[in-house]
Amino acid sequence: MGGIFGLDLYRNEVIWKRTSAHNDASAFGRVADKILFFGSGINRSAVRVPLSEDYVAKTYRHEDSRGRYMSSDLTGPGTSDGESGQEWQGWGPTSKGRHWSVPRTGDYAAWIDENLIPGYVTEPGILKRLNMLNEANMVVFSSKGTPRLKRYLMANPGQLPADIWTDIPPVSSRAKEARKYPTQKPLALLERIIKASSNEGDLVLDPFCGCATTLVAADRLQRKWAGIDLSPLAIKLVDERIAEERGLWGGANALDAPPARTDLGELPNYRTHRHRLYGEQEGVCVGCETHFPFRVMEVDHILPRVKGGTDHPDNLQLLCSGCNRSKGGRAMAEWKAAQ
Ligand SMILES: C[S@@+](CC[C@H](N)C(=O)[O-])C[C@H]1O[C@@H](n2cnc3c(N)ncnc32)[C@H](O)[C@@H]1O
Repeated sequence: MGGIFGLDLYRNEVIWKRTSAHNDASAFGRVADKILFFGSGINRSAVRVPLSEDYVAKTYRHEDSRGRYMSSDLTGPGTSDGESGQEWQGWGPTSKGRHWSVPRTGDYAAWIDENLIPGYVTEPGILKRLNMLNEANMVVFSSKGTPRLKRYLMANPGQLPADIWTDIPPVSSRAKEARKYPTQKPLALLERIIKASSNEGDLVLDPFCGCATTLVAADRLQRKWAGIDLSPLAIKLVDERIAEERGLWGGANALDAPPARTDLGELPNYRTHRHRLYGEQEGVCVGCETHFPFRVMEVDHILPRVKGGTDHPDNLQLLCSGCNRSKGGRAMAEWKAAQ
């Protein structure tokens, strides 16, 4: 991930609680998956979640005809000789070592302007804004007579999820979205990830797409998408699921051979590695592990070129001519398995 996106874009390891119990004989039960989040930021407004009941009860402890609210300071530390140091309604901040700090910018000021006091944010006068708030019944006085601002619960758009996600349950076998794919993830999980990190019209790639959860979530959120998987079952399920999702699907592209690599540039002819490999292998054939003179050794592609193998040195080895003939067009792993 660091190699692909750059370590400087690493943001979080998010823990997703995928089940409530898991029996692991010699370890703590593995109930979580880890999501590595790389990116330049989060679409905050797209992924807010409702405040917890507990938080609401503890924080928004007052209520008026508009609903629940908490009260917050209308002053900041330090005195001022200007307007923000003047008395208002018989109360002066200077004697308390403070000055007026009546919000004009920020989300709450914008909400006040939009919902309760049109023109609020364009009013430059501090005491005038205090009057506006007071007339709109948004100022409360503490037991000591200090004016405070009402902050309404209804203005709170919810909170950004923290890095432990326990609010998205796994896919139940009875759920409409269940596809009998062993590692299927819930749509809600992919929806949160996609909303947090992309916009409508963006392209979402899932190179391990399983039964197409990411693709369906991306499609529903008006993103373009592409998915890759090497499992024939996954390809079948992707076909079925996307066709069900919307009838516009032309079918998955099933490739029998891997696409040719285009990222290696010009490589020298593989035979030029013969001397180096002979030295590295100390004259021993990788197949039969027997020492042979140089002239008997042949350069072999571990994964044959017809199966997508390249001339890259990592894909080359020396076999004696006997082993090379026996291996033929097979991959090294296939030939070894057949021995
Ligand atoms: C954890 S599952 C993905 C599940 C998926 N998010 C879903 O909800 O269905 C990982 C997938 O990666 C596929 N896979 C594993 N190695 C792969 C590879 N080298 N290339 C492409 N797909 C691969 C597997 O077949 C499997 O479907």
